[in-house]
Amino acid sequence: MKTPDPCTLVIFGARGSLARRKLIPALYQLERSGRLSDNMVLVGSSLEVLERESWQAEVVNLLQLHDPAGTDATTLERFRSRLHYHRIDPADQNSYRALRDRLEGASGFSANMVFYMAVRPADYPGIVDHLGNAALLSEKNGWRRVVIEKPFGYDLLSAQTLQAGLYRHLQEPQIYRIDHYLGKGTVQNVMVFRFANLLLEPLWNHHYVDHVQITHSETQGIEGRADYYEGAGALRDMIQSHLLQLLTLVAMEPPVSLSAEHLRDEKVKVLKAIRPIPQNAVHAHAFRGQYASGTVGGQSAPGYLEEPGVAPDSVTETYAALRLYIDNWRWAGVPFYLRTGKRMAENSSAICIRFKPPPQDLLRQARHGPPQPNWIMLGIQPNDSLRMEMQVKMPGLDLQTRTISLDATYRQGKDAEYDAYEELLLDVMHGDHSLFLRMDEVEAAWRVVDPVIKVWAMEREFINSYPAGTWGPRGTYRLFSSDDQFWRHSLDPDGADLQPY
Ligand code: BG6
Repeated sequence: MKTPDPCTLVIFGARGSLARRKLIPALYQLERSGRLSDNMVLVGSSLEVLERESWQAEVVNLLQLHDPAGTDATTLERFRSRLHYHRIDPADQNSYRALRDRLEGASGFSANMVFYMAVRPADYPGIVDHLGNAALLSEKNGWRRVVIEKPFGYDLLSAQTLQAGLYRHLQEPQIYRIDHYLGKGTVQNVMVFRFANLLLEPLWNHHYVDHVQITHSETQGIEGRADYYEGAGALRDMIQSHLLQLLTLVAMEPPVSLSAEHLRDEKVKVLKAIRPIPQNAVHAHAFRGQYASGTVGGQSAPGYLEEPGVAPDSVTETYAALRLYIDNWRWAGVPFYLRTGKRMAENSSAICIRFKPPPQDLLRQARHGPPQPNWIMLGIQPNDSLRMEMQVKMPGLDLQTRTISLDATYRQGKDAEYDAYEELLLDVMHGDHSLFLRMDEVEAAWRVVDPVIKVWAMEREFINSYPAGTWGPRGTYRLFSSDDQFWRHSLDPDGADLQPY
């Protein structure tokens, strides 16, 4: 277990939801597990004027609320002593100069610095510009790293413009484009599952795979994030980033090694091989919807248009589904279905792979109904699990078949649980880029979704709706390339949705 270099971590937007829900609790967990360097210092930065003591009290309070059982007095005190606060007016160059004078002038602040952008995406370029102009990004003394949260831009062109702005002050190795899905242990397990088990490799191609489904569904709504979500929508928020990343891990070729560049080379190759969706075929390849009021977990939930901050005529999608093809030797002709939605029936993320039927249907007489294909299902959330559906003979004198599920929940009682942000924050401090996005990866992902974004942006008259607490809008079945395909709503054997939904 290597301890990272000492560093000063400055979080812009330290009082915002990402910092409060994810970053600060993750840093505290790293403190608990002894993974932070003794000289690591955390500087919270935000618009409000705040004394150091008030900031420390605020953080301690939030940690106690976040995990009452996980906070002990000694660890809390150690963490509290790392906390500093610096008020920044994002538009005022002087506050960045003051930050520099403070960080470089006083002892106790390491010359290695991480600047974390936990702010609105529109604010990234301005902050980086100010940091650069205040000479806070030059690596004359110690390393300087900048973490950029997703979405990186809102389409290909804006991503390239943002990148050009970053390059004015930063070299590529200083930039960490985060996609927190890659920090999830279960997501990394997709790679282990594929590359540590030879058993599956001969089957992992278009000869045997019928199609692949990648789903992320949530029961929660937009949780007061209308400001961001209205301009993003489900396609940008989840598919351009997290779900396309999952697709690359399922579909990529084995990399030369697990080094950052080898891994990212293979992921980029997959993204580049995705068949572009022509604008006139967007309706055949993409489906969007928006939640109306409904019932989630027995509680009534408002519709998207009733959420605070949402325009009354908004057509922002809270559900998006895509059918994609990867035009390479391995995956020619295999549809990949990606789907995500807010206020859906369940919280669940999973990759479901359906195999083709055997070439000859010898057991036709031994079952009622159509042949049952094999499935392999990797559950990512809420439970890490691996399921395989196979056909077996039913006990008894007659030759009849039924589906059984081989089920492995591979988390064991004593296995450590950790949040994706713990892993990613540690990687930034170690300088490991493997789980961060390279610019060509981001560009290739925007190229996949850009045609859909353009068409949806023009069609502002109508959007399908679905009641909160359901599996999405009706009509999405038209994305399927054959009549016998259907969404897997749950990994249970009866989780197949045979309705034309
Ligand atoms: C974020 C999206 O990137 O991922 C959110 O902006 C979404 O809208 C979240 O809820 C899902 O991540 P997780 O880790 O909670 O599954």
